[in-house]
Amino acid sequence: MICNVAALLALLAPAALSAWQSGSPLRELAESRGIRIGSAVNPAALKNDPAYAATLAREFNQVEPENAAKFGPVHPQEDTYNFEPVDSLVAFAKAHDMAVRGHTLVWHNQNPAWLTRGGFGPDRLAAILQKHIQTVAGRYAGQIYAWDVVNEAFEKDGTLRKTIWFDSPGIGREGTAYIEQAFRWAHAADPKALLFYNDYDAEGINAKSDAIYQMAKDLVAREVPINGIGLQMHLTLKPPLIADIEANIKRLTGLGLQVQYTELDVRVPLVDGAASEDSLIAQARIYNDVAAVCVKFKLCTAIQTWGFTDKFSWIPGAYRGMGAALEFDANYGAKGAWRSVAAALSK
Ligand code: XIL
Repeated sequence: MICNVAALLALLAPAALSAWQSGSPLRELAESRGIRIGSAVNPAALKNDPAYAATLAREFNQVEPENAAKFGPVHPQEDTYNFEPVDSLVAFAKAHDMAVRGHTLVWHNQNPAWLTRGGFGPDRLAAILQKHIQTVAGRYAGQIYAWDVVNEAFEKDGTLRKTIWFDSPGIGREGTAYIEQAFRWAHAADPKALLFYNDYDAEGINAKSDAIYQMAKDLVAREVPINGIGLQMHLTLKPPLIADIEANIKRLTGLGLQVQYTELDVRVPLVDGAASEDSLIAQARIYNDVAAVCVKFKLCTAIQTWGFTDKFSWIPGAYRGMGAALEFDANYGAKGAWRSVAAALSK
């Protein structure tokens, strides 16, 4: 135990140590560096759990609806939109001087049955998607500053994922032209919003991140309205090489694009429902390493986690036997991961 605390202390530079001891909220540290520190938000927790709302407002200066702005939740019937959960998060953000990111306009998951089982052909699908983007991004113009326009369009090997929007049957555009079209529609809906392509397992250098880089380079060269790449950062205790993450951020920002960490979490194995002390130390180190890489780059403009408390996290539901992935424990106590992010923001 003592040994583990010592290991954690050794991670922290003196300036960071004093920030940690004084307990400055992450958002204060982030604001003094001009970076956004964000979290995905569960609207039900926000409404029903006062400690959730208080911690979120104290620590973060950016929020993103975890599910509420996805196609299915926000557009459950062809002629019905459910904006209330997103509206209430936008109001919370306004009251607490936070920025809002939008997630997501084009994705293969969490689409409504009326859409996936509608039997629509390419022309109808194109019209449906254009209208959806116009309606959702248009409604929040001036309130949602950045959108994940397209989410997870590539496979691990760098080929395009087969989806309703791409080719099954698709909106009638070849290759990455369907992605380009979505960016153009999003730009028309809200010309001031920052538009991102977002994906997972593309943090380091691999076939998927190479494909994303090539697409980004092509879109930028042809002046398609794209402003950034979102790196989801759903990590394990065996993350990509930090040098590779740095190289990837370097090449993407070298195109003039922003990079944001959009869904950071570091899942660890649970034994009898709990994470070991050692795994939490290892987790804290990873949080420190990845946050430290982002802050090296002026164009790495946000560090956002996928939730912030282990009380509400998608990990135990999605990865059996894993959990404890976030900066706060289930009782809203700051973990080593929190101290690590504070340390990186304080350097
Ligand atoms: C997840 C949510 O956290 C869960 O609540 C939901 O059941 C499934 O989706 N990549 C993404 C996110 O872009 O939208 C996903 O969110 C996690 C993986």
